[in-house]
Amino acid sequence: MIYTWFVLSLVISWAHASNVNQSCECGIAGTNRRIVGGTTVQPHAYPWLVSLMLGPKLHCGGAIITDLHILSAGHCITFGVHYRELTVYIGMHDRLDTSYVTQHVVNGVKHPHFTSNAVRDINDIAILTLENKIEFTENVRPICLPEPSMDFRKVPLTVAGWGKTRQGALTSSRYLLETKVQIVDGEKCKKSNIYKENLVTDSMMCAYSLGKDACQGDSGGPLFSTHKKSDNKKWYQVGIVSWGIDCAMPDYPGVYTIVANYIPWIKKQTETGTYCA
Ligand SMILES: *[C@@H]1O[C@H](CO)[C@@H](O)[C@H](O)[C@H]1NC(C)=O
Repeated sequence: MIYTWFVLSLVISWAHASNVNQSCECGIAGTNRRIVGGTTVQPHAYPWLVSLMLGPKLHCGGAIITDLHILSAGHCITFGVHYRELTVYIGMHDRLDTSYVTQHVVNGVKHPHFTSNAVRDINDIAILTLENKIEFTENVRPICLPEPSMDFRKVPLTVAGWGKTRQGALTSSRYLLETKVQIVDGEKCKKSNIYKENLVTDSMMCAYSLGKDACQGDSGGPLFSTHKKSDNKKWYQVGIVSWGIDCAMPDYPGVYTIVANYIPWIKKQTETGTYCA
């Protein structure tokens, strides 16, 4: 009996430690090369990107990290919004083209030390569990989690979304839009009076827009990039869109949750899902 239990727990812990499917790859961008122009993203270029809908309304963005889990921001399931009210739109590009897949959320966990005041959120990270396993296709794939050794300073990072920001965009875009941003040094970011009191640099980082079109990433959505370690082929989630004073103002960079600082917590919340290698 004791022996059986020992073998059983060994099998269980092994299964948990190895929930990586070697037959699929994370962070592979879409191959559609059609040029759309402007900041509009090529359809399904970023197949990990999802929308969290509250009824007919775009509520937040998120990213697929396993076949069952979405990484998003803690504030997306706070302030009167319960995870059970959310529907996840997967594989969407054009909001009027209904060929995307929709799923219900059966669980939502935000970081146990998530806190918020009028200006900012600390530990602004959440994991949503979907009702059914996602079937990965060319248009629907997970993004990779970063390794702690990866340095994403000085490289252009991508943030994408349909335009739902914390500042309350009046209208959302029909097509997915993207912006390139770059990480700002924490000390530099703190120079602004508003950021000074509110920036907790071990859990947050600032990034400013490299173009004029700041603030196109949906709140809760991913900040992502390739990395030279993987020959610029795989994309990694560097941050989560958290807050910013006013995204239209160039002096106030956007603030993002640093994903690499939460890897053990993320892994713990996603044991029921399967990662791609
Ligand atoms: C692993 O990935 C492959 C390719 O996407 C898929 O066909 C297979 O069902 C996956 N296996 C598991 C256990 O998820």
